[in-house]
This record gives sequence, C-alpha cells and structure tokens, in this order.
Amino acid sequence: MVRILILGGTGEARSLAAALHEDSDIDAVSSLAGRIRDPRVPVGDVRIGGFGGADGLADWLRTHPVDAIVDATHPFAAQITANAVEVAGRCDIPILVLRRPAWVRRTGDDWREVADLGEAAQLLPELGSRVFLTVGRQGVDSFARLGALWFLVRAIDPPDVEMPQRSTLLLARGPFTAAAEAALMHEHRIDVLVTKNSGGDQTYAKLEAARALGIPVIMVRRPQLPPGVGAVDDVADALAWIVSRTK
Ligand SMILES: NC(=O)c1ccc[n+]([C@@H]2O[C@H](COP(=O)([O-])OP(=O)(O)OC[C@H]3O[C@@H](n4cnc5c(N)ncnc54)[C@H](OP(=O)(O)O)[C@@H]3O)[C@@H](O)[C@H]2O)c1
Repeated sequence: MVRILILGGTGEARSLAAALHEDSDIDAVSSLAGRIRDPRVPVGDVRIGGFGGADGLADWLRTHPVDAIVDATHPFAAQITANAVEVAGRCDIPILVLRRPAWVRRTGDDWREVADLGEAAQLLPELGSRVFLTVGRQGVDSFARLGALWFLVRAIDPPDVEMPQRSTLLLARGPFTAAAEAALMHEHRIDVLVTKNSGGDQTYAKLEAARALGIPVIMVRRPQLPPGVGAVDDVADALAWIVSRTK
C-alpha cells in the first residue's frame, strides 16, 4: 500500500484526494489547518489542525510514515509549504507542490502588482477611497490604519484581527459571477479592488467585473516557492508524479 500525505485546504487538494480514493493501492490522508469554521472536507482520511511547526510535522511523519507528500495548500500558505519542504528533505520523503496557475493580466486590466499586503496598503490611498478588500480574513489588519478610506471586506469567516475603522464586513464564499460582482461593486461605489493572486476560477469574476467597470486592481504577487522543490499546476500531473515516485 502506497501512503500519501496531502496538505490541503484547496479545491485542487480535494480533487486529488478524490482521485486517490479511487485507487485501492493508495492510502491517502488529507491534512487541513482547521482555520475555517465549516471547511469543505475532502473524501477519505482527514486530519485537522497544525502539526506544531516543522519539528511537529517531522514527529507526525515518524508515527504516520508516508511514501510521498503533495503540498496542495493555498498559494499564499507559505509557512506550511516551507515547513513541508524542509521536513521532506530532512526525512528523505519525495515532495511535490501542486499550485493552480496564477491569474494573468488581460487586455483592459488595470493592475498594480505588489509584493505583499503592506505594500498594497501603502499604495491604496493613491488609487481610490472606496475599497473592495478580498484578501481573506488574515491580513485585514494591514489596512486598519487607513482611516480615511472605506472598505467592503469580504471573507468566508469573520476576521479575528483589527478591521479598518470605516468598513462593512460581507461573509461569503465563492464561486461568484461577474454580473453579481459588478452589481456589488456598483452598489458600494467601489473605486479600487485589492486581491491576492490566488488563481483559479472560483473567485476570478471580481477581476472581470473590475475590468468591465474600469476599476484599478492592487494585485498581491504570490510568495515564491522554496528553492528546488518540484511543482505542477494541475491534479493530473500530480497523479502522474505520485505514480512515478511510488509504484
Ligand atoms: N493563505 C490564504 O490566503 C488561504 C486561502 C485559502 C485557503 N487557505 C488554506 O488555509 C490553510 C492555512 O493557510 P495559512 O495561510 O494560514 O497557512 P500558513 O501561513 O502557511 O500556515 C500557518 C500554519 O498553519 C498550519 N497549517 C497550514 N496549512 C496546514 C495544513 N494543510 N495542515 C496542517 N496544518 C496546516 C501550520 O501550523 P503548524 O506550524 O502548527 O504545523 C502552519 O505553520 C492552508 O491549508 C491553506 O491551503 C489559505
């Protein structure tokens, strides 16, 4: 029996777990951070909660040995990826990163790319005063000091960090349509959008709406992967890698 650890929290991770579940030679366990109150749970075995840093992950792997690790976490979940790559090297376990492709600027897009949320907050006052903030609930506090701006903050669960003083919280989970996103931006007189370059089609509609409405977008670039780690951008390639490394 081939044992696989999937570091999850994304649609790609759930698709991979579902595909591996079909293979009777493979025993896969999905790991979730446990941050979302009502997560979409993958099929098959699931464990929930942090490991306790890199050493905690190494301990977990000693008691739950696996033949390979697929890190299919969110493109901005840089800490778990760094831990997983480091521990895989230390324990000599093959590891692959599965990351959906980043969004790419299209004709008509007015994007300003920045390295992180701090740079986004610095740039924001030059671009608008009514902000649609869609960076997830972590990191909302990077914008808490911008008291002159108004924010529509959208997240799946309520942020547990300081919110911008002038803000409205909208709890919602994609997928969204471009028509609904445009209507939302129009209703709130949004003049600038802030987003992370998460990629994927579940939340792409806000970018179509911004393009149609001529609204500038502050796009936070993805953190880089740890050097040397192999990466693929779709589930089929991850499955092929698992077969090549384990069977
Ligand atoms: N960041 C985003 O924008 C975003 C968006 C959508 C979904 N997610 C998902 O939410 C989870 C947490 O994201 P994050 O940005 O907080 O990650 P992170 O900053 O890279 O990780 C912080 C800590 O959370 C724990 N952790 C993260 N992912 C885990 C997993 N799959 N299984 C077990 N523990 C995990 C680890 O704790 P220990 O050190 O204790 O092991 C890690 O050190 C990820 O699974 C990610 O795929 C993140």
